[in-house]
Amino acid sequence: MSSASAPGKIILFGEHAVVYSRPALAVPVLQVHADAAADLTTDDEADKRIRTDLGEKDWRSRIFIEAPDIGLFSTLDALLSDQTPHPLAAVIINVFQFLGITTPPAIRIRVTSSIPVASGLGSGAAVSVALIRALASAVQRPLSDDQVNVLAYEIEKLHHGTPSGIDNSVVTYAMPVYFVRGQPIETLRVGAPFTLVIGYTGVSAPTKESVGDVRKLWEADKPRWEKVFDQVGEIAQGARAAIETGNTSALGPLMDANHALLQALTVSSVELDQLVLAAKAVGAEGAKLSGGGRGGNMIALVASEKAEAVATALRSAGARSTITTTIQ
Ligand code: MEV
Repeated sequence: MSSASAPGKIILFGEHAVVYSRPALAVPVLQVHADAAADLTTDDEADKRIRTDLGEKDWRSRIFIEAPDIGLFSTLDALLSDQTPHPLAAVIINVFQFLGITTPPAIRIRVTSSIPVASGLGSGAAVSVALIRALASAVQRPLSDDQVNVLAYEIEKLHHGTPSGIDNSVVTYAMPVYFVRGQPIETLRVGAPFTLVIGYTGVSAPTKESVGDVRKLWEADKPRWEKVFDQVGEIAQGARAAIETGNTSALGPLMDANHALLQALTVSSVELDQLVLAAKAVGAEGAKLSGGGRGGNMIALVASEKAEAVATALRSAGARSTITTTIQ
């Protein structure tokens, strides 16, 4: 049995502008777990027979995937029969292609997650990364983090056309990151711990759509939106310095300013704005949407003794769930 895990992520600063090469900060949160058990006992002769008897298509019927959190129990070939293949199927096919394995052995895969699906916490990227690792080690071809990250980025591209790569990077390397598209990933050092309450709107909003809408805005008036992206980038730079020097009191106002720019980019929503206001009303030091927006999550920076009051206020204001986490 080969097991692998990967965390989800929260973007602290810089979402959307990061697609346009401005810096962004993100941290890992929660976990996805994947197990893959491969039947590697097939000897060469039997393997040849399988190839001849079953052909290319049918090895897919010997791969079984179980993901109880989303009610999925299926063979790979059944997942591939739809016009748009299931994301898990795309991961499996890509891994074997990458490894140059044309006839994989029989494999039983189980994926479990503590990250709510489509909640904006990067459950998709986390599932991809955990599954890539578990599969590669099940066929005894373990991959380096850099290789896992390349593969996970390819899957992200299937989900939304122009990902910056921040989600797969934070999930693969499982550490707080300072990320600039196309540049080597940098670790974000946390000078002093700080507490966040994450509020989930309950609205699942595809990142692809909000990213696509921002692109339309940008294409219609590039000088205007480039300036906004510059402002977001400056906020992310300032936040990096504040986090690394432990000057956490500077982070609240930076979060508020970043949220206002995300509103201008049209990626907030009534629900997100309500949660941001509710958190601030009971003493959060700053709050903003986190991730693709239009739904998904917001984050509030809180003094740890106020975390419970903020979480309660968020739930009263409509949050489906809240998670309190300390970044350190
Ligand atoms: C999504 O988690 C973050 C976005 O900036 C998109 C991306 O970076 O690919 C909205």
